[in-house]
Amino acid sequence: MTASAARRAAAACLLLGLSPAGCGGGGGPTSAPSAAPLPTPGPAWNEVAPLRDAAASGGRLIGTALFSSGLANEPAYAGAAGRHFNYVTAEYEMKWDPIEKTPGVFDFSGADAIVAFAEAHGMQVKGHTLVWHNATPAWVSSLSPSDLRSAVQNHVRTVVGHFRGHVRAWDVVNEAIDDTSLGLRSTVFSRGLGDDYVAECFRLARQADPDALLVYNDYGGEGLNRKSDAIYALVKDLRDRGVPIDGVGLQMHLQAWNMPAAADIAANIRRLAALGLRVNISELDVQIRQLPVATKLTQQRQVYHDVIAACLTEPRCEAVTLWGFTDAHSWIDTTFGPDDPLPFDEQYRAKPAYFGVQDALFGR
Ligand code: XIL
Repeated sequence: MTASAARRAAAACLLLGLSPAGCGGGGGPTSAPSAAPLPTPGPAWNEVAPLRDAAASGGRLIGTALFSSGLANEPAYAGAAGRHFNYVTAEYEMKWDPIEKTPGVFDFSGADAIVAFAEAHGMQVKGHTLVWHNATPAWVSSLSPSDLRSAVQNHVRTVVGHFRGHVRAWDVVNEAIDDTSLGLRSTVFSRGLGDDYVAECFRLARQADPDALLVYNDYGGEGLNRKSDAIYALVKDLRDRGVPIDGVGLQMHLQAWNMPAAADIAANIRRLAALGLRVNISELDVQIRQLPVATKLTQQRQVYHDVIAACLTEPRCEAVTLWGFTDAHSWIDTTFGPDDPLPFDEQYRAKPAYFGVQDALFGR
């Protein structure tokens, strides 16, 4: 997608007021339109120390979302991913739509390419995501409740079974909490399967892979707020009822000009861990377009540092995944507008944010 097309798409999204992912729900990441030119470029991706070494020094995983065509066609993309990360999430290609576009017909080609890359580079894999109201093919929405239940059972069992032994953890259900009511979001799954569909999906996933960690993933519940309270209540209820849930993913799609307090992020992570759950930062990116140009990069560095440092205050906060790692490929540009949200710039050079991530992973 050209820069001008991406700008038009972003403007259309914002005009339509579409939810971020729903608006960005096309076929995966696109090339970033050029935002304001960055000041003095940093060192190249292969001139700075691997972030995975910093993460390993603290017993953590540092991950990134990836897409298969970048791995196949862009040497710098593949090289930087393999050098810096030890945890991989498919940005789009493990979702329902790309895998089961028509009922019962499964195409794992893109996802398998990402898993193969991960395993060739000593990286673990997080499956994302089995049940989500976005990136779900239209045929699912037209099913009767009984056919929907069969389709969900078949999808979860087939996909989890396919990747069994290759996936460390699954985002089983994504974004089930409604931003306004803070109750269960009204989706094809809640309407068709009933309010207990979240528990039903976790039980299905556990049956399909007894060894994978099963995670609930959501956005907007990073600090201490009404949504994080709702997420806490949801996962506490699941735990209390013996539903097989092992962890929570906090997406952390952050705006540097509108940040939750790092202390609140740490407190939220701690209270989830106190339930016996693992916690991971699952989709970290830090938007800076509304910051003054002079402070964009230093503030972004600080945010990356403080958020990851908050995670590291809790031993059960075991992984940090960036939602992409280069400004050349970020969903933020096509969903919210031109930005530079990631630790490497469009030429894969390390920004100050890279050093913020590295310092935090080293506990500095
Ligand atoms: C986004 C991807 O980044 C886009 O490439 C895709 O078109 C739509 O989905 N929350 C999530 C992610 O859990 O799966 C979404 O990823 C971003 C919001």
